[in-house]
Amino acid sequence: MMELVFATNNKHKLQEASQVLPEDLLLLNLDDIGCEEELAETADTFQGNALMKAEYVFKNYEVACFADDSGLEVDALNGAPGVYSARYAGEHGNAEKNMDKLLEALKGSAHRKARFKTVIALVQPQGVHYFEGSVEGHILEEKRGDRGFGYDPLFVPEGETRSFAEMSPSEKNSMSHRARALAKMHEFLSQQ
Ligand code: IMP
Repeated sequence: MMELVFATNNKHKLQEASQVLPEDLLLLNLDDIGCEEELAETADTFQGNALMKAEYVFKNYEVACFADDSGLEVDALNGAPGVYSARYAGEHGNAEKNMDKLLEALKGSAHRKARFKTVIALVQPQGVHYFEGSVEGHILEEKRGDRGFGYDPLFVPEGETRSFAEMSPSEKNSMSHRARALAKMHEFLSQQ
């Protein structure tokens, strides 16, 4: 069975990946390989950050690995918070504060178009490959739903009325940026 490490400990991301990737692939996370350090993501692009995380694990643990970097791009904010989505309000990973800051920045604005983007970097002995996924949508005027993570309560994908946080994991997975990038990686791996 092929082993592949997903360089994350984000339970939501791991769950999404295990739903999208085939069962004949043994998906490991950072805990599984004994990697306890915080992986640096100091590049200024999704691609750069994804590569930093995946390359670190590949070099230090000698295992095939992929990492994703993702974020929310809001048109009215010229693409912010983008690569800084996790620490938009200052503190890394404080979703409530990040969403409050976003609501404040868009207050009174009718122009609320946005998209989630993911870039996956896959690092194997034979080289590096990138896979991208995105989902268009808009930002609500207030939070709705309590599932998912990050900005999910504020994001309604195109053609839907519910936010990602109001959907079941499998519904979100049928259209999410990460699921789309994972599906591309899956197709690539199945052709190897
Ligand atoms: P990273 O890819 O772990 O660096 O995540 C960047 C940030 O983007 C997260 O902390 C979230 O704030 C946001 N984000 C990425 N993917 C999602 C998603 O599927 N739903 C909601 N927020 C997300």
